[in-house]
Amino acid sequence: RKKVTMTTLRNLYKKGEPIAMITAHDFPSARAADESGMDMVLVGDSLGMVAMGLENTTEIVMEEMLLHCRSVARGAKHAFLVGDLPMGSYEISPEQAVGSALRFIKEGRVHGVKIEGGEELAPTIKRITQAGIPVVGHIGLTPQRQNALGGFRVQGKTCVGAMKILQDALALQEAGVFMFVFEAMPPEVAALITSKLKVPTIGIGAGNGCSGQVLVQVDMTGNFQPGRFIPKFVKKYADVWGEATRGMIQYREEVKSREFPSPEYTYPISKEELAKFEK
Ligand code: KIV
Ligand code: NA
Repeated sequence: RKKVTMTTLRNLYKKGEPIAMITAHDFPSARAADESGMDMVLVGDSLGMVAMGLENTTEIVMEEMLLHCRSVARGAKHAFLVGDLPMGSYEISPEQAVGSALRFIKEGRVHGVKIEGGEELAPTIKRITQAGIPVVGHIGLTPQRQNALGGFRVQGKTCVGAMKILQDALALQEAGVFMFVFEAMPPEVAALITSKLKVPTIGIGAGNGCSGQVLVQVDMTGNFQPGRFIPKFVKKYADVWGEATRGMIQYREEVKSREFPSPEYTYPISKEELAKFEK
């Protein structure tokens, strides 16, 4: 399989072939994503929740994101890799943002960065793209701003709300983003805005009229603890949690009963050597 580049993604978009993106947060999840033929792998700051146990994505910092990015970069050798600029790493100034983005490329070894926010980020995005770093915009529901949004809430459900998303999209496209993530908005709104843009849109909870889709790997593979909140847009394609705990429960029982390890899982010693040793 060939390495996915900006040109590959551009061609998929031109052909109208949906772009498949998934998140990864460590070496094995990156290997799995790459083996599954993903076009893009996102090291999303959702890893703060699914891999670190944080309440939301507001706490995670640069060093944590970079550590996870490096592990993912070692595991995903074909997909185009994007890392999430965490809250606090880009808002202060365009200079701060370009500094953070450069660290993602040089220390995180990803190929581009994603940044949450609307038209107010245009100067920032311009500055990062001028440094030669591909930027993915993220509009609609922007989880880093949940405190201001009033929680994880669907966006663009009114004409005014939809117009705001369109306005943000056009401003950020002008500023140079090569792609968008559209999160949690009605499918009609996402499709209409997608048709007005010249760059691909990757939907999550935004219907199938986008240019591609993204899901959080831990969610879609069912690799989460029972009771964790899962958004409506997550389709569960596997039951990794069920399979992993089933195996561990059996292992624990076999340890307790001494059924494990049976001889096939042990190293033999010859009778002669054993006899000498036992004397
Ligand atoms: O952090 C993340 O995983 C994301 C995707 C849900 C788009 O931003
Ligand atoms: Na994110």
